[in-house]
Amino acid sequence: MNEIIFLNETSSTNDWLKKRCAELPDGACVTAERQTAGRGRRGHSWETAEGMLAMSVLLKNPRDLDTVTARIGLAVCDVISKLYPRIPEIGIKWPNDVIIENHKVCGILCESVKIGDCVNVICGIGVNVSQNDDYFQRVGLPNGGSLKMLSGAELPKKILCENIAERVIFRAAMLFSECYDEYRSRVVNIGREVIILRGSDKRRARAVDVAENGCLICEDERGRFEVNSGEVSVRGTEGYL
Ligand code: BTN
Repeated sequence: MNEIIFLNETSSTNDWLKKRCAELPDGACVTAERQTAGRGRRGHSWETAEGMLAMSVLLKNPRDLDTVTARIGLAVCDVISKLYPRIPEIGIKWPNDVIIENHKVCGILCESVKIGDCVNVICGIGVNVSQNDDYFQRVGLPNGGSLKMLSGAELPKKILCENIAERVIFRAAMLFSECYDEYRSRVVNIGREVIILRGSDKRRARAVDVAENGCLICEDERGRFEVNSGEVSVRGTEGYL
């Protein structure tokens, strides 16, 4: 595995890797104590508080490009289940938010940059490691939770970062078909009513399954349809899940 690059502060670890992806090797990983302009999915900002692990891993020409983001979610689940054996159930809110007891403990933002024939995928991972409940209330994220809150255990961010970087590389080398059953069994939206957000458009449906291409299969009065993680975000009809 490559050495991990530790920074005190940067705008966003994704942006830091993006600027350097031509010269860095496959699997390069950077983590920062603070991000001054951390980014989330769909143009949201992502606050990097103390107690959060912010890291990004560079993948060069990963297999099964469309499902990388799903496999990164699985990699984070693998690491949590290994390092926090007291946490009984770790789920994925499609496509890749990692969920424990209805709380989001990790968000993932994958972005790609093409240079010549090489597609560089930057996998940005934000893990809530040790914040307390009052932090999530204060910043208006009632669905957020940290691994410490949900397990009682506090591990050093460095250990989590090293394990996640290694597992991301492992899952990235697999095909989605090899991860499909595990992924499907983790997706917590299946069987729930959801709202699919595409830009300002909202569509209400029921999530019924995950397809072999990683899309979420939904159903409404017009029939079954697939939604693709690049296009949409999914919410529960009563809130986050
Ligand atoms: C989301 O759930 O909206 C995705 C959040 C991704 C946050 C991480 S923190 C490390 C990396 N750098 C960023 O600017 N974003 C990702």
